[in-house]
Amino acid sequence: MKKVFALVMALVMALGLCSFASAEGQKVGVSMPTKDLQRWNQDGENMQKLLEEAGYTVDLQFASNDVQQQLNQVTNMINSGCEVVVIAAIEGSSLGSALDLAKEKGIPVIAYDRLLMDSDAVSYYATFDNYMVGTKQGTYIKEALDLENAEGPFALEITAGDPGDNNARYFYQGAIDVLQPYLDAGKLTVKSGQIDFTDVATPTWKTEVAQTRADGILASYYSDGSSIDAWLCSNDSTALGVTNALDANYDGDWPIITGQDCDISNVKNMIAGKQAMSVFKDTRTLAAQVVKMVGQILAGETVDVNDTETYNNNVIVVPSFLCEPVFADVNNYAELLLDSGYYTADQLQ
Ligand code: BGC
Repeated sequence: MKKVFALVMALVMALGLCSFASAEGQKVGVSMPTKDLQRWNQDGENMQKLLEEAGYTVDLQFASNDVQQQLNQVTNMINSGCEVVVIAAIEGSSLGSALDLAKEKGIPVIAYDRLLMDSDAVSYYATFDNYMVGTKQGTYIKEALDLENAEGPFALEITAGDPGDNNARYFYQGAIDVLQPYLDAGKLTVKSGQIDFTDVATPTWKTEVAQTRADGILASYYSDGSSIDAWLCSNDSTALGVTNALDANYDGDWPIITGQDCDISNVKNMIAGKQAMSVFKDTRTLAAQVVKMVGQILAGETVDVNDTETYNNNVIVVPSFLCEPVFADVNNYAELLLDSGYYTADQLQ
């Protein structure tokens, strides 16, 4: 009996050692939506660097905002031996067949920043608290206009994100929940009448798309010289479109413009007084958290999550880790972005 026990223990240890030894060089797939936006380049680079430092081999792909391309890339990752796949989806609900394949092969999938929808093959989700991003934008406008005390009415316009990205509604809702009482009380008015998410959304989050819509709003509702006090923008790429439109077609007092990501052009606009705030989501923090998750999954350990209720993808509630976003403006950008080494002073010149 003792002999059998010793044999079993030797086998268990050997297997344990084997799996530990093979952790070196294990392949991890990282699928990012596009290289067009600064943030995804940073996310991809950070993930690759940290994973490689931890001893993994990395298959990093960017999908040019093309859903079919991302589907092919993820399918290849799964077929070519990746043991965990990390995906920031272009469209949360368009990767169904690749996710089915991952499930069939027992490969864990981590949704990165954007939730993967309509599938039970999503193991974990890591993101910044998306609703909180919106509340920070809404609160910034509320405080800057002193909506509690000032009489108003103030003119507001709204530009939201891509309807195919599950995050976009959270950003929008977080901000609207803060501003709704003032809209109801008539302290905030939206001259264009475009308030519902579907009316203010920006397909693909593209600067040009946001700019064209803003051009139209300015021409139709503000060409009489009336002012805009605030323009709620869900992120920096859309804020840039709105800023460009205002630069070209608006002479009134400059409105408070919100954003998110602290992209370099937008931080420059913040310094120049053209964008009031952005939300800083330190992609180094998110990448580090996801690399930790990958390690925990592959070691069979409990995976750190801090939210098991919010992110229902229409099939399951995905266990999530939410990092905390912080607001950035001209007063704190240097501390947040320069002192922390996120950017160098030269990059913001
Ligand atoms: C991200 C934002 C980003 C937007 C456009 C969202 O899913 O959370 O940080 O600005 O996509 O790429």
